[in-house]
Amino acid sequence: MVTKKIAVLFSGSGTNLENLFLKIHDRVFNGTKIEIVLTICNKEEALGIAKSCKYGVEPVILKHSDYPQRADFDKKLVEIIKSYEIDLCVLAGFMRILTPYFTRNVKAINIHPSLLPLFKGADAIRQSYVAKAKEAGASVHFVNEELDGGEVIAQKSFTCKENMSYEEYEANIHEIEYEILPKTVISILSS
Ligand code: GRF
Repeated sequence: MVTKKIAVLFSGSGTNLENLFLKIHDRVFNGTKIEIVLTICNKEEALGIAKSCKYGVEPVILKHSDYPQRADFDKKLVEIIKSYEIDLCVLAGFMRILTPYFTRNVKAINIHPSLLPLFKGADAIRQSYVAKAKEAGASVHFVNEELDGGEVIAQKSFTCKENMSYEEYEANIHEIEYEILPKTVISILSS
């Protein structure tokens, strides 16, 4: 059987990371086994660290604050990822802008909580909520040198109800993330 290895990078609560462990880790899809072999976090206080450990993968903690030059941080990141010979890198709430050195060397996808190309960058959920868009959702895209600007691979939306609370709005977006991110990883690696 073919085994495909992925790395997941995160910075925060790690709910998308946990969802990937639950839905795709160590499972076989169309004759391809997918394994999360590496997780990397750039914040030592991130709640996602404990989640990763729970599934048997102790994250590599790579603090960007230890690297005054962005390029040096990215070099280290690439070096670690290459050493695991991974097939795909998944950015799941990894709050760092990556340099072309990273994007040229690593095949990576990112989950973003908006209907790209709308609302790129941080705080996309709040921005789209405030803008009172009729449709909202999430996107998975390839990572390139432009922030949230790579080719969109998957997207799903919902129609916003009138007077929808922020909490409900945010929860709907996360539900979509938990659906489309694992599906996209499976379709990239097992088709
Ligand atoms: C998600 O909403 C993701 O789209 C964004 O950051 C958030 C990460 O949440 N890039 P979590 O750490 O997976 O809970």
